[in-house]
Amino acid sequence: MLKKTAIVSLFTLISVSYMAQTNNTLPVYLDESKPVEQRIQDALSRMTLEEKVAMLHAQSKFSSPGVPRLGIPEFWTTDGPHGVRPEVMWDEWDQAGWTNDSIIAYPALTALSATWNKKMSWNYGKALGEEARYRKKDILLGPGVNIYRTPLNGRNFEYMGEDPYLTSKMVVPYIKGVQSNGVATSVKHFALNNQEMFRHTSNVNVDDRTLYEIYLPPFKAAVTEGDSWTIMGAYDMYKGQYASQNQYLLNDILKKEWKYKGVVVSDWGAVNNTEQAIHNGLDLEFGTWTNGLSAGTKNAYDNYFLAKPYLDLIKSGKVGTTELDDKVTRLLRLAYQTTMNRNKPFGNIASEEHKAVAKEIGEEGIVLLKNQGNVLPIDLNKAKKIAVIGENAIKIMTVGGGSSSLKVKYEALPLDGIKSRFGKKADVQYARGYVGDIGGEYNGVKSGQDLKDSRSEAELLNEAVALAKQSDYVIFVGGLNKADFQDSEGNDRKSYGLPYNQDHVISALAKANKNLAVVLVSGNAVAMPWIKEVPSVVQAWYLGSEAGNSIASVLAGDSNPSGKLPFTFPVKLEDNSAHQLGEYPGQKEEFAAGKGKDQKNPINITYNEGIFVGYRWHDTKNIKPLFSFGHGLSYTTFEFGKAKADKTVISQDDTITFTVSVKNTGKKAGAEVAQLYISDLKSSVPRPSKELKGFEKVYLNPGEQKEVTFTIDKTALSYFDAGKHDWVAEPGDFEALIGNSSDAIKTKVKFTLK
Ligand code: BGC
Repeated sequence: MLKKTAIVSLFTLISVSYMAQTNNTLPVYLDESKPVEQRIQDALSRMTLEEKVAMLHAQSKFSSPGVPRLGIPEFWTTDGPHGVRPEVMWDEWDQAGWTNDSIIAYPALTALSATWNKKMSWNYGKALGEEARYRKKDILLGPGVNIYRTPLNGRNFEYMGEDPYLTSKMVVPYIKGVQSNGVATSVKHFALNNQEMFRHTSNVNVDDRTLYEIYLPPFKAAVTEGDSWTIMGAYDMYKGQYASQNQYLLNDILKKEWKYKGVVVSDWGAVNNTEQAIHNGLDLEFGTWTNGLSAGTKNAYDNYFLAKPYLDLIKSGKVGTTELDDKVTRLLRLAYQTTMNRNKPFGNIASEEHKAVAKEIGEEGIVLLKNQGNVLPIDLNKAKKIAVIGENAIKIMTVGGGSSSLKVKYEALPLDGIKSRFGKKADVQYARGYVGDIGGEYNGVKSGQDLKDSRSEAELLNEAVALAKQSDYVIFVGGLNKADFQDSEGNDRKSYGLPYNQDHVISALAKANKNLAVVLVSGNAVAMPWIKEVPSVVQAWYLGSEAGNSIASVLAGDSNPSGKLPFTFPVKLEDNSAHQLGEYPGQKEEFAAGKGKDQKNPINITYNEGIFVGYRWHDTKNIKPLFSFGHGLSYTTFEFGKAKADKTVISQDDTITFTVSVKNTGKKAGAEVAQLYISDLKSSVPRPSKELKGFEKVYLNPGEQKEVTFTIDKTALSYFDAGKHDWVAEPGDFEALIGNSSDAIKTKVKFTLK
């Protein structure tokens, strides 16, 4: 009988010799025991010039080739950012007609940001990444982190609000969650794509200080802290160069200053110049001639700017191969992180966990804006008859809005959610109240709803008012939708007010029944001329598959609202700084002269408002908003204690810690977000009256109290000095302001920077 030790050594011998054998035959680029950078160099050395160039551009609408001869797989991309986009045909935007590509839609990024909860962001990324992985995608085209500059931007719903700090903190866990699946994120749109109007035909002028303080930080956090493996260039121009082929943004800032090692992907159709694409930092070209077929040749993809034109330049000796090898190196690195990563999980789709993640983020993101007389939560002992009114109670919102449009397994509509939550105890009746948008198709995905209604405006309104009068309770569900010129890609909203005469409907309902809750489904702020007439207002965003259930849960008080606004709601559009000081939709005279109509006549957009974006503007100039940044109520009450600092004087390399207690003084468990703002009391340059530099969501049972601590260093005190091209923390007095919204500071503490 063989002894145990003998068996072990025999086994070791066999496995070592097996490994030696395989190591001998495995090329380095396939040998997992070798460092990745060595494998990349090995793969690169085996590739022909043609194979290298082929890697740099699309082969279909959403995929690019790998290196078939070497067994390096294709890259498959997908939108992003709220769910995995359905399959389209090889060359076209239309549906491939698969029956296995329906997914869970997660809440829109505005809603995620409104949770002010980094854990939610990780859960979101992980679940979405699992679905992307299951669908065999390697690159998820998102998240979007363009700063909210104007409430008219049609794409704000895909972004995370107006504050660079909040956005930076919220985007990082999302990226890490997605990438834990071996699926890359592509943080977008880098940079300055802050409106949809003229997105292909505008040149943004912004000073360096504003660029570095407001518009760049979320991208920087995404690549340096989040390690997003790819980043997507934008459509617009900066310094007269298109962003996806821009020397300043891609080479100087991203790749040199931030030392980015990942892949720069163009936005779809954002490339238009071979020389610039070669030299200015782009790595992967997508969507040129977006139907994938034009340019009059057999294979349009060979004629992409980074395809044959590039190859010809190299072959003729006009361009060397340094840039080429750098681009391919980056793409190979991406391959080892994604397609060639053998340790990635398998993914799964529409699991119960995913549904729960979507529902919970929805509940935590919903913002209770107003709740006079505690009209909410709905008391089922009193509400025997509930009227639900408004088109958004019955309208599918996951179809439409542009590239983020989805094909879902299901979408719980607000009316469904309300009926299933309240229907057993109360009589729930519906009236439409108005007709807005009856569309329901995007790229061949159909909502399946027939929303046609031939009744007149008066008939619809009368029916709604009559129902409201007979009911104990009225829930109006309105807002915007995903139709063109609403919350949708490609165009901006035309005005700040609610569309389809909803203001009139809301006022009439307020007169008919005092127990009224207005639920707004939108990704943008809207004017509320009726705000004084309505006791209760809820901002419910676009919440995806679980929308109706999340909304009903908050209305019923099953979940206690804890969302906070990620952007300011101005009273009127002119109160917003981009509209008061800056240029929108572009330089006035140029706009009047018809500039911006095509790429030959681009329009300038100058951000004259500078760093004074959102609450930085409102709070500094004392322009009272309708609802401030950071605002959000709860069904319970909280009390902040007196803030303390661990020192009164700090030096440039010191940290300082602030402590504050938060107590739940009401009768319901709930969560409050303690928000730390810093104010520079005296500065040689203009500074906002306060800037967010820390936040923490605390869950508290009735009567419970917790300490929250914030530790900051000089980065939280600095401004960007354009002359020095560096951050400067000016010695002097500062104040730490802690509260639960930018305009509700509860406690302050002074300190001095040496
Ligand atoms: C959008 C991107 C999107 C891409 C691919 C573009 O029009 O701007 O956000 O990822 O299309 O669908």
